[in-house]
This record gives sequence, C-alpha cells and structure tokens, in this order.
Amino acid sequence: MIVKCAIHLILLGWAVSVFWLASQDALGADPVKAIIHFYGIGALNLLVLTLVISPAARKFKLSVLMRQRRLIGLYCFAYACMHIICYWWLELNFSPASFVDELVKRPYIWLGMLGFVILLTLAATSPHKAKLRLGRRWQTVHNFIYLASILVWLHFFLSRKADILEPGLYALTILLLLSFRYRKLQRWYKNRPK
Ligand code: HEM
Repeated sequence: MIVKCAIHLILLGWAVSVFWLASQDALGADPVKAIIHFYGIGALNLLVLTLVISPAARKFKLSVLMRQRRLIGLYCFAYACMHIICYWWLELNFSPASFVDELVKRPYIWLGMLGFVILLTLAATSPHKAKLRLGRRWQTVHNFIYLASILVWLHFFLSRKADILEPGLYALTILLLLSFRYRKLQRWYKNRPK
C-alpha cells in the first residue's frame, strides 16, 4: 500500500511538474517540443522499467516489486496518452489535415501509433477480470510488450535526426532485457495456444 502510494505520488507529481515548469517559463525556447519530449521519454522510461521489474524481482527475491508492475505499466500508458494528446493539441491544434500531413512527412509516427495500439491493448486487458476471461491467451497478448518496446525504440531513434548516443543506450538496455526473455519466449512459442 505504501509503495503504491509512493508510486502514485512520484509519477503523478512528475507528470504535472512539466505544466508548472511551463507556467514558470522554464522549458526553454520551444516549450511545446519540451512537453512532447517530456511525456515521450517518460513513457519510454516507464516501458523499460516494466521490463526491468521481473528479472530484478526474481534475482533479488522481491515479490513486492513484482506487484507494482501493472501500476507502472498503466502509468506508461498514461504518459504515452499525454505525449499524443499534447502533440495533437499543442503542435497540430487538433487538425486532422495536419495530422495526415505529418504521417506523410514523418513516417516514424506510424511506428509510434503501432506501439501505442499495443500499449492500449495491454492496458485494456490488465484488469484481473480480463485476465480470467482470456485464460492462457492473456500471456500471449502480454508478450506483445516486447514488440512494443522495439517499435517505440525505433520511433524514438528515427525521431532523433542526429543523436546516436541516447537511442544507442536505450537500444542496449532493451536488447539486454529482451535477451533475459529468450528462453521464456522460446518455451511460449512451442506451447503457444493454437
Ligand atoms: C499515436 C502515437 C504517437 C504519435 C503521434 C507520436 C508522435 C511523436 C512525435 C511527433 C515525436 C517527435 C517530437 C519532436 O521532436 O518534434 C515523437 C517523439 C517521441 N515519441 Fe512519440 N508518438 C506516438 C507514440 C509514442 C509512444 C507510444 C511512445 C512511448 C511509449 C512514444 C515515445 C516517443 C519518444 C521517446 C520520442 C522522442 C522524444 C524526443 O526525443 O524529443 N511515442 N513522438
């Protein structure tokens, strides 16, 4: 309970802090870009954190950590929603025509959209009731988190025109975390529900 409250406080406070910084004129020359970046990187970091939790919980025998995975996953989804809403609102003024134009000019947005559809599916199937209803298929659906991490990384990498270092560090982290799942994915593939 205390851990959950602390997570809510930190992640809600963090999410709101960017608007406070904007009101103080503290986001630099391009505050719109800074806000979109803040939520995009926030969502990516939380996605990576959800991938860190199970190997870390297993290694250090911390079941309390494992119980926080769903909550952090839902915050990842919420930050991704804020990233998209702020982009549509602050950059495109909710204009569908500008959005279509962007899809042509910036193809990496398609990758972000695919990643988002996966996150949306995972959030929608995260309640306990959905888990019971889906049975063994629940794990199949939730294995798509690995594909989402690759799609979102590609979206991030392609949005950065010149910078290699930061996307490179994220790539190494994600590859390492996916390598921990190699056996699990192999086993799942052999016994997958047909
Ligand atoms: C409908 C889905 C999405 C749209 C339309 C979208 C849009 C964008 C745009 C326009 C940018 C470039 C911002 C700029 O530099 O001008 C961007 C960057 C980024 N997006 Fe997304 N995105 C989507 C989904 C996602 C998701 C699901 C995540 C993470 C879970 C994500 C994470 C990022 C990150 C990390 C960046 C790089 C931020 C930066 O370096 O400035 N995006 N996105």
